[in-house]
Amino acid sequence: MNSKTKWDLKHKERLEELKDPAVNPRLMNLSAYLNGDTALDIACGLGANSMFLARMNYQVEAIDISDVAINFVLEQATKNGLKIHPRVCDLTVLDRVEWQNHSFNLVVMTYYLDRLLFPIVKSLVQKDGYFFMETFYQTPQNQNNGVSNQYKLQSNELLAEFSEWKILFFEENEQEGRQTIFCQKPVL
Ligand SMILES: C[S@@+](CC[C@H](N)C(=O)[O-])C[C@H]1O[C@@H](n2cnc3c(N)ncnc32)[C@H](O)[C@@H]1O
Repeated sequence: MNSKTKWDLKHKERLEELKDPAVNPRLMNLSAYLNGDTALDIACGLGANSMFLARMNYQVEAIDISDVAINFVLEQATKNGLKIHPRVCDLTVLDRVEWQNHSFNLVVMTYYLDRLLFPIVKSLVQKDGYFFMETFYQTPQNQNNGVSNQYKLQSNELLAEFSEWKILFFEENEQEGRQTIFCQKPVL
């Protein structure tokens, strides 16, 4: 089964469970920095973070490989009058040329890890703009959480990756095995 089919099925199951997709609590806690402008939600899934950002006055571009997820985000955005532009995009074959004239005040990437995207993310964030990322990292406690190590960060990896940026929030939760960063791109 390819990645798109797998994620379409997962999202369909989640929608059938009728659970409201939850906004990332660390992102919500950073509301003081979220002043509204343009935002990109990478691998947006069912779009909880996109909808939260749209309500914080961002114009959101939301991308994901799954048609099921993107159709749901579109439906919700239309129903609630939110400024979200959802679209299907396979991040493994991202067209760099298509993106080269784009920039965003905020880029969000939660629970999706592809290290090849880091240079693209860095170029997509405007100077003085922000990047928020959260995903799993390797801890003894989460060795058997069903997520392959290939999709887990090393301890402190995001701190090292964004060492040139201003770190406004960083956290590793060993028990849950998640790493979170919120950082600001330098002006110079
Ligand atoms: C664990 S979910 C995270 C969703 C959302 N960011 C969140 O935190 O709730 C991972 C997401 O990545 C998407 N995805 C997987 N492979 C992808 C790819 N190659 N290109 C774009 N999206 C992809 C899946 O459809 C899924 O929505």
